[in-house]
Amino acid sequence: MANTTLSRPPSTAPDWTISQRWDRYTSAEHAMWDRLFARQAAMLRGRVAPAFLDGLDMLRMSRPGIPDFMELSERLMKATGWQVVAVPGLIPDDVFFDHLANRRFVAGNFIRTPQQLDYLQEPDVFHDVFGHVPLLANPVFADYMQAYGIGGQRAASGGVIERLSRLYWYTVEFGLIRGRDDELKIYGAGIVSSHGESVFALDDPSPNRLGFDVKRLMRTPYRIDDYQQTYFVIDSFDDLLHRTLDADFGPLYHELAQAPDYEIDTIGPGDTIYTRGTQAYARMKRAHDKADRPEAAGAPARGD
Ligand code: PHE
Ligand code: FE
Repeated sequence: MANTTLSRPPSTAPDWTISQRWDRYTSAEHAMWDRLFARQAAMLRGRVAPAFLDGLDMLRMSRPGIPDFMELSERLMKATGWQVVAVPGLIPDDVFFDHLANRRFVAGNFIRTPQQLDYLQEPDVFHDVFGHVPLLANPVFADYMQAYGIGGQRAASGGVIERLSRLYWYTVEFGLIRGRDDELKIYGAGIVSSHGESVFALDDPSPNRLGFDVKRLMRTPYRIDDYQQTYFVIDSFDDLLHRTLDADFGPLYHELAQAPDYEIDTIGPGDTIYTRGTQAYARMKRAHDKADRPEAAGAPARGD
C-alpha cells in the first residue's frame, strides 16, 4: 500500500522504481523464498481460489528461487498486459495509483530474514510477488486492479482515499470468495502470503465473514497490526468487477461523508452473514496487550 508523506530516495527513478538486481540475491535469500513457497503452497491447497493456483502455474512460479521480475513480466504481459516493477518500499499514493492505472504492479525487492518468518512490517517480495502476482494473470482480476488505480486517482483528487483504501484492504489484501461448492476460499494477498492467517481467515470462529457490499465496506475500519476481525466474501471476480467498475463512487463518497463508521467487529441489519464471529481471538489479544502495556493498546507488527 501507499503513503503521501515520503520523499523519493536518490537511487530511484522519477516513478520511484528501482532495478530488482536479481543477480544480487544470495543463496540464503533464494532459500528463504523456497521455504516460504513450500510452506504456503502446501497450506493453500483446497483453501485458495483456483484462479490463484492457475496463475502460479501459468507464470511458472513454482520454480525455485525468487522470481526474476523481467521474466515474470514477460509471461504476465502475454497473459493480461501487466508488468511487475521493483520499488524500495512504501511509495506515495499518487505514484502507486499511476502504476496500477498503467498495469504495473509495484513490488518490494527485498526478502524477509528468518527472524521475520511470520511477521514483518513492510511488505517484502514474498508478500508482493507470491501474494499478489498470480491473480494478475486472471483477466478479470487484472482489470479490477487497473480500475482500482484509476479509481484511486479520482479518490485522491476528492480527498477520499481512506474510503477507497478500505476497498483495497478488504478485497485485494484480505478478500474471501465463494467457491463452486459454496465453501469459502481465500484470494486476498495478505492472507495468501500468511501462514497463520490462511488458517484463521477460513477456519477460526473468531472473525465475522460477511457478504461483500461496497458501501458497507467503505464504512468499516481495518487492522494493520493483526488478523482481521471481519472478512468480506465476494461471489466471483466478475461480480467484484461489476460492482466496482460499473458504479460511480462520486455520489457514494459524498453520501459517506456524513455516515459514521461501523465498529470493526459489528454486524449490521443489512449484512449477509456467512459467519457471526465470536471475536474471541481479538478479545484475547486485547486482554494480553493491556496486561503487557497498561497505557498503550495495539501491537506494532503486521501479519503479512
Ligand atoms: N467506479 C469507481 C469510481 O467511480 C472506480 C473503481 C473501479 C474503484 C474499480 C475501484 C475499483 O471511482
Ligand atoms: Fe499487499
